[in-house]
Amino acid sequence: MKKVLHVVGARPNYMKVAPIYKAIAQRGLLSQVVVHTGQHYGAQMSDVFFSDLGIPSPDLHLNVGSASHAEQTARVMIAMEKVCLEQKPDLVSVVGDVNSTVATALVASKLNIPLAHVEAGLRSGDRRMPEEINRLVVDRIADLLLTPSPDGDVNLLREGVDKDRIHFVGNVMIDSMLQARDAALRLPTLQQLGIVKGEYGVCTLHRPSNVDDPKVLGGLLGALADVSRRLPIVFPVHPRTRKMIEECGLQPVLDDAPGLLLREPLGYLEFLSLTSQARLIMTDSGGLQEESTALGIPCLTLRENTERPITVEVGSNIIVGTDPTRVRAEAFRILDGKSKQGRIPDKWDGKAAERIADLYATYLGAMSVDLRSAA
Ligand code: UD1
Repeated sequence: MKKVLHVVGARPNYMKVAPIYKAIAQRGLLSQVVVHTGQHYGAQMSDVFFSDLGIPSPDLHLNVGSASHAEQTARVMIAMEKVCLEQKPDLVSVVGDVNSTVATALVASKLNIPLAHVEAGLRSGDRRMPEEINRLVVDRIADLLLTPSPDGDVNLLREGVDKDRIHFVGNVMIDSMLQARDAALRLPTLQQLGIVKGEYGVCTLHRPSNVDDPKVLGGLLGALADVSRRLPIVFPVHPRTRKMIEECGLQPVLDDAPGLLLREPLGYLEFLSLTSQARLIMTDSGGLQEESTALGIPCLTLRENTERPITVEVGSNIIVGTDPTRVRAEAFRILDGKSKQGRIPDKWDGKAAERIADLYATYLGAMSVDLRSAA
């Protein structure tokens, strides 16, 4: 049986790999191995996701941990090269745009192992974002480019990628969301937090451009504090953000805002139970822009740009930047009943992973379907 090697590294990877893993397992045509690089680690940033998503724990752990970009990427490359030489996969499948993604892609490509990139073609146009560099590099060397939305195809064609390598499969993150939603809604998360369905907001912040600069972070926290005086805001805090709040001495802004409910990072199901019943989402996360669009919940993106324009053109997302006055004004507009209505983009239908599983099986000769008609 031909073998697919999947890589997970950071939090947003788990919910992308899980449905692909399940769809391939259901078909029984390929064997699979899952490698965790350890870019994210610990119970709340990693372990809980495997049980929440209903997939086995990874087969191999590389334990690279946190480090500078160069060091983290290099550590993954060194360890992953050994894994690929031992495991001899017939296809390496990477997802998203984190450092583990680009490191694994470089290793697979140099060992001449076919490389598939799930979530290909997304572009923010902002090369100051580390993820944008990762996306550009991975898409340049991947053999199969699986896009979540048609803008991905347009970007890749513009960059000269051969059209036969590009397959519009839809959004795997939404597969996970639809599979998990009922279980998430059964959790007592809202009661535990003392909040009521439709009467609270959710916020996440972790981008270096937002949290590493004390002025930007202070401004955003001030705006959130103001919004939380009208609507309680649940704010699960990423470790990077927690560290910066302490280092920048911003705790007093939070102490002054009892409606801003800071919590530790949450597991997948708990977080989904929160987001799916919220009135408003404010975030700098890419995945959450997509999830709010699929849930039809108004989202304010606290960045100057997005690599996911479909969430703005079709969905419920608005790019508001980081100016506290604008953030506050846009949030108040929503609370005044002027929310943006969106619709769900094409192929965000819960079947993206099935399309990917068929493509992989066909590519590896385990199934005979025309590659172009499989997606
Ligand atoms: C990474 C990804 C980003 C993704 C985000 C999701 C890259 C370049 N960035 O950013 O695209 O949106 O994950 O969360 O790959 N830390 C912990 N525990 C952990 C992980 C990190 O305490 O499990 C702390 C460490 O102090 C670390 C810092 O958080 O230095 C940042 O972690 P890192 O993995 O470098 O990047 P993220 O900001 O999480």
